[in-house]
Amino acid sequence: MQQQKIIILDFGSQTTQLIARRLRELDTFCEILPYNRFPADDENVIGVILSGSPYSVYAPEAFRIDLAQFRGRVPVLGICYGAQYMSHSLGGRVEPAGSREYGRANLTEIDTNDPLFHGFQKDSQVWMSHGDTITALPPGFHTIASTDHVVNAAYAADDEPLWGVQFHPEVFHSVQGTLLLRNFVVDICGGRQDWSPANFVEATIQELRSQIGSERVILGLSGGVDSSVCAVLLNRAIGNQLTCIFVDHGMLRKNEFHDVMKDYDGLGLNVVGVDASDKFLGDLQGVTEPEQKRKIIGRDFVEVFNAEARKITDARWLAQGTIYPDRIESLNITGKVIKSHHNVGGLPKEMNLKLCEPLRWLFKDEVRRVGRQLGMPEHLITRHPFPGPGLAVRILGAVTREKVRVLQDADDIYIRALRNYKVRLSGEEARRVLAAGVPADMQNGEIEVSLYDQIWQAGTTLLSDVRSVGVMGDERTYENPVALRAVTSTDAMTADWAHLPYDFMARVSNDIINNVKGVNRVCYDISSKPPSTIEWE
Ligand code: XMP
Repeated sequence: MQQQKIIILDFGSQTTQLIARRLRELDTFCEILPYNRFPADDENVIGVILSGSPYSVYAPEAFRIDLAQFRGRVPVLGICYGAQYMSHSLGGRVEPAGSREYGRANLTEIDTNDPLFHGFQKDSQVWMSHGDTITALPPGFHTIASTDHVVNAAYAADDEPLWGVQFHPEVFHSVQGTLLLRNFVVDICGGRQDWSPANFVEATIQELRSQIGSERVILGLSGGVDSSVCAVLLNRAIGNQLTCIFVDHGMLRKNEFHDVMKDYDGLGLNVVGVDASDKFLGDLQGVTEPEQKRKIIGRDFVEVFNAEARKITDARWLAQGTIYPDRIESLNITGKVIKSHHNVGGLPKEMNLKLCEPLRWLFKDEVRRVGRQLGMPEHLITRHPFPGPGLAVRILGAVTREKVRVLQDADDIYIRALRNYKVRLSGEEARRVLAAGVPADMQNGEIEVSLYDQIWQAGTTLLSDVRSVGVMGDERTYENPVALRAVTSTDAMTADWAHLPYDFMARVSNDIINNVKGVNRVCYDISSKPPSTIEWE
């Protein structure tokens, strides 16, 4: 069976990813593509959604497309800018709006006979966020919902499958937003609600087999969930045609290289482990600028990886565990680079390998569900994300072996403590943790999970350029602080700091200062993303 898909054309809105998430929650498959990359010859497209945008339709830099690429072929839903753009380019009028079109609003008039609004309740709350508004619809269009301030809050074409909504159905505050998207995708586009980990595994294995045939594939493992799930999936599809390479750059967590190699062995993967720590740490000597550190690690990684990969002379494919959020942050269509994530780009081009990224459309929680479907051990699946450049981006300033050792020891105490500390959750908190795929039994409306499983990601940063005075016994100390970080998130694109219990923090602080020579102060990072990022560098 072919994979039906909805294409979401991204005009740069901050909430484009949320549209995709909502569609996945409906168990329908979708792809977000840059606004100008509609796949004209993809027969599996059953509908198109045009996203919002930071620009006005009149801005000189506004993103423009030719609607004729899909108009008349499949149903189209424009959201916010998408609705305004469609209306503007088909002969309607768009003008600057008053200040009232931000925030909550209610649909006081709704045409519930229109298939987009089936099941809607009068006064349904929606979320508006736009500076322009549609003051006149194109000929052959009619209004299907209004608020007190926005007459054309939603419109439809009389005789063709085109819809536009000026509010954002994808955001939480649009109370019946998911119903609207369901109406569009399922009823209007005829989408099947058949996306599940089991279907994904089955379809992907078939796809990989026909794509790869009898050729050889190499894959860089990082110890993280994404590359591990990718490897197991490929192993299922093509068995020993897959060779994995796991590079130890010397900045992994304490004992991680050894522990993870053991896990991979247990999974039956064919893994070549390479200890390249001398090279990486040597090249990083004295380098303090974060982007330069990342670039050196990226370059060294490619070199070491290539040297190993060349030994597999008949390899034709390079597989990567790239997942969807990695691509969104790197492919941001407004073109701003925040951090250069090293698993995207910098590929061994001269090796002429074809790229295979079977997880490229998945969000993290979906990758975990796929991992479980593949029967992988729980501790590998629930492992927190860890940055490719490793502890290098958690040691501020120049990296040395000694600093890595100090940080590994402090971090190990913190992570173990998170795993050992159990909390009981109920209500919304419990539902959120269960929805993220953490296996826990609900008893009397409560679940028990570790702090580790309750949060998205935790890590320790060594503030190695800062020294402060302390006292241990009768001795004065003059050493570095570490900053603990723990965040909640669903995709790392936004994150909030986790409210860890005080007794937990007190114990971890004591344990680190008493046991890790070189650290005499512990801080907790209470910044959210944005405006901060998860990693300090
Ligand atoms: P930031 O610090 O950008 O991190 O908020 C977002 C997520 O990405 C991870 N991260 C990386 N992952 N290569 C990776 O594979 C990298 O270069 C990299 N830098 C950050 C980070 O740990 C967090 O989960």
